[in-house]
Amino acid sequence: MPPKTEIVAAFEAAKGFMPLDEGLALYEAAMVAGASGLPLLEVGTYCGRSTILLAAAARETGTVAITVDHHRGSEEQQPGWEYHDPSVIDPHVGRMDTLPTFRRTLHAAGLEDQVIAVVGRSPQVAAVWGGQLGLVFIDGGHTDEHAGGDYEGWVPHLAPDGLLVIHDVFADPADGGQAPYRVYRRALESGAFAETSATGSLRVLRRTAPGI
Ligand SMILES: C[S@@+](CC[C@H](N)C(=O)[O-])C[C@H]1O[C@@H](n2cnc3c(N)ncnc32)[C@H](O)[C@@H]1O
Repeated sequence: MPPKTEIVAAFEAAKGFMPLDEGLALYEAAMVAGASGLPLLEVGTYCGRSTILLAAAARETGTVAITVDHHRGSEEQQPGWEYHDPSVIDPHVGRMDTLPTFRRTLHAAGLEDQVIAVVGRSPQVAAVWGGQLGLVFIDGGHTDEHAGGDYEGWVPHLAPDGLLVIHDVFADPADGGQAPYRVYRRALESGAFAETSATGSLRVLRRTAPGI
């Protein structure tokens, strides 16, 4: 079942980079994973565009979405880089802070009660995380250090049959950075995952065996 019209409208109104077709694929995966009753985890909140879909699926399936971000932006979002948005600079600090915009996004979408927002660095949060997850969505830093760290930190918490979703997977370097693609290849080559769908640059893999 697709998301409600008002959820799609909130997604499209939110700041962010994800196109709608990929968002719908993320929502579909979240609905499947949410049926397990386990939490749905996102690395890379930014301003909450994709979080809306995880939260909506969490509401439909009776679970919760957890989203992790330090809210200081990735490399490519810093001043002078391609994806920089000057409106998310905190003038008091002189650095990016996407947390206020994220909170407004969730409030506008009516989804505050379905989300646990963790402000912190992904590997540090993963290192103290205790529970199993139904879905891990990797959309944080796009360097090998960050994307690889997200994989190594969070995938051990992914339950049997849980879904691993990776954004910005580009087989051709001409289309985009290769770190998420390398994580995707690593997951498949581990023998612990099978691909279930590919939409744009979004890949959905199902855990078929333990390991990373
Ligand atoms: C591409 S944006 C996420 C976009 C979001 N999922 C969406 O669809 O709107 C990547 C985010 O990851 C965050 N990030 C990058 N490296 C991180 C790390 N090591 N720990 C936590 N957050 C990180 C950045 O602050 C940025 O907000």
